Amino acid sequence: MTAPRQLFVTTALPYANGKFHIGHIMEYIQADIWVRAQRMLGSNVDFVGADDAHGAPIMIAAEKAGKTPEQFVADIAAGRKQYLDGFLIAFDNWHSTHSPENTEISQAIYKDLKAAGLIETRTIEQFFDPEKGMFLPDRFIKGECPNCHAKDQYGDNCEVCGAVYAPTELIGPYSALSGARPELRTSDHFFFKLSDPRCVAFLEQWTKAGHLQPEVANKVREWIAPGEDGKPKMGDWDISRDAPYFGIEIPDAPGKYFYVWLDAPVGYLASLKNLLGKRGQDFAAYMAQPGLEQYHFIGKDIITFHTLFWPAMLKFSGRKVPDNVFVHGFLTVNNGEKMSKSRGTGLDPLKYLQLGMNPEWLRYYLAAKLSARNEDIDFNAEDFMLRVNSDLIGKFVNIASRAAGFITKRFDGRLGVVTADGLALLEQLRAALSAVKQLYEQREFGKVVREVMQLADRVNAYVDQNKPWELAKKEGQDERLHDVCTTCIEAFRILAVYLKPILPKLAADVENFTMMPPERFDNVLEPLGAGAQIDVYQHLMQRVDVKQLEALFEPPAQAQQAPAAIKDEASTATTEAPGGEPLAPVITIDDFVKIDLRIARIVDCAAVEGSTKLLRLTLDAGEKDDAGAPRLRNVFSGIASAYRPEQLKGKLTVLVANLAPRKMKFGISEGMVLAASHGDEKANPGIYVLEPNEGAQPGMRVR
Ligand code: 2FM
Ligand code: ZN
Repeated sequence: MTAPRQLFVTTALPYANGKFHIGHIMEYIQADIWVRAQRMLGSNVDFVGADDAHGAPIMIAAEKAGKTPEQFVADIAAGRKQYLDGFLIAFDNWHSTHSPENTEISQAIYKDLKAAGLIETRTIEQFFDPEKGMFLPDRFIKGECPNCHAKDQYGDNCEVCGAVYAPTELIGPYSALSGARPELRTSDHFFFKLSDPRCVAFLEQWTKAGHLQPEVANKVREWIAPGEDGKPKMGDWDISRDAPYFGIEIPDAPGKYFYVWLDAPVGYLASLKNLLGKRGQDFAAYMAQPGLEQYHFIGKDIITFHTLFWPAMLKFSGRKVPDNVFVHGFLTVNNGEKMSKSRGTGLDPLKYLQLGMNPEWLRYYLAAKLSARNEDIDFNAEDFMLRVNSDLIGKFVNIASRAAGFITKRFDGRLGVVTADGLALLEQLRAALSAVKQLYEQREFGKVVREVMQLADRVNAYVDQNKPWELAKKEGQDERLHDVCTTCIEAFRILAVYLKPILPKLAADVENFTMMPPERFDNVLEPLGAGAQIDVYQHLMQRVDVKQLEALFEPPAQAQQAPAAIKDEASTATTEAPGGEPLAPVITIDDFVKIDLRIARIVDCAAVEGSTKLLRLTLDAGEKDDAGAPRLRNVFSGIASAYRPEQLKGKLTVLVANLAPRKMKFGISEGMVLAASHGDEKANPGIYVLEPNEGAQPGMRVR
């Protein structure tokens, strides 16, 4: 017998500044299915994750929330379990990049790279916030767009006209943290010399031999190939940041920290080391196993980090390189709305669980859509309901419910003897075993689902031909009834084993029902057999109710309260600062009266073509034009993620009536409507437009 394969498997480490969104859950489900299938094939697998805790955005978010970064990331970490347990994602360990293991391994890797002559110091120029006393990442510099002159645009691109530029091109740049005008200052940074011929030669070979998906390998090789200057497009990599920074200190370089992307993938090893420590196993010995295979599941937006920087870091620090990086596409919801990486609006996984929706529905649906290719998949509510109700339940689960009752009532819960046509059917089902195993290995889960559903069709055709419900009424047909129902139970169990990586809970229930020990794929070759006792059948799965889907996609403003049993991590992440943000400095009543707030009726509301954020509001604030006709105002408001236009039409709200008109890409905005949101929008999404009490009339001043 050959020794079992030893696999080390990871998923990308999520930033510890927000809740999981459906894109995370999809990746974890994909990896979890593969890991479970590997175990059913007999492999040993260690499957780990962790929070990606470092970096300037997290440091700044923590400050805004009035917490230390350590407390901030710990609060986020406390909210992870309910998602992972809820969706049956069985990581062996969940750790953090802010950990002793990660510090130790990151620093060791850096020292090894330095010793290999691959670290270089260069002086660079960067914007510095003199009030905050820190260098500013591009996202924290704002100013006027050099292209369309929209105000308050980010340092790297304009959200109004879409232009991309360097922060130094902004007109009137200011720090988004303090409002101060940033100064250009110089600083020494450390670079990892990826363009060194040794790295280039290694990456050329690794990307060819590393079994990357072909579409991924092609993309990656474009970065390695020499450009017009003869140098690879990827360039060298700036791996240091200056204090203050929430990260890992660089050895022998006071005030310098590793850039978050240097220590993030090291977090894979840190989580593994932490797991092995708990088990009393030695990390170095584990990594030195000659047959060890290392795999990373990631999204297509972080390919370069995982296929260039990470393998090169490992290789030239004398460590094991990954055997493969499995790249998946993005998940869109209801035809195309892309899951934003930070907001992930559309399908809230926690709400899914809170509504009592079955996690295995989602696992099944995603599996049915997943392939080994790096391509986007769409979650479509109607398709979801159809596939779960008609395929998973109608074709598969119903096989058991159609037969089990007779076995219990008529045959004392014991299976009978299967005769020729039943044996032939079961043989066809068993013949699919090697294809199913191979498809799981190749991550072709959609094909597994199709294969199993085709087999289920055959079983259902057999049931329809033999009509056990009619046999049960006929005299002298007991033996045939027993045969047919036994065939169904045997068939059902084979299909349940085939689907077990996708539906682990249902498969465990089937194992209990058939009184079989935990199943491996190869167990399907052995029948349960005549005389085997089965338990009383309990219904295995409910159908999707359209009301649940309606509730799932209701905008947050109208969502029901979460049942108390499941605590949202937002509640653990609340801070002393009310609404997640400290109070603004005190103003006088004279300051306040400068703002003219008026009641306005939303007489019309429409989506804005070309913008996913904005709604166009037509407001009546009681004003008249010179001829005495009502004067209506046009206001653009960034509330499209929270409201459908028809929800707002006819409502009253509060308008900032004396705000200077602002020219936007889509027209002029004549004021602003008031809405509430949490200071940390990522952790606590939701926008709530203000609505006055009954009796207020358009034009009335709010004071
Ligand atoms: O893109 C992201 O969400 C990163 N936090 C992924 C890191 S993966 C690994 F390198 F840690
Ligand atoms: Zn612009």
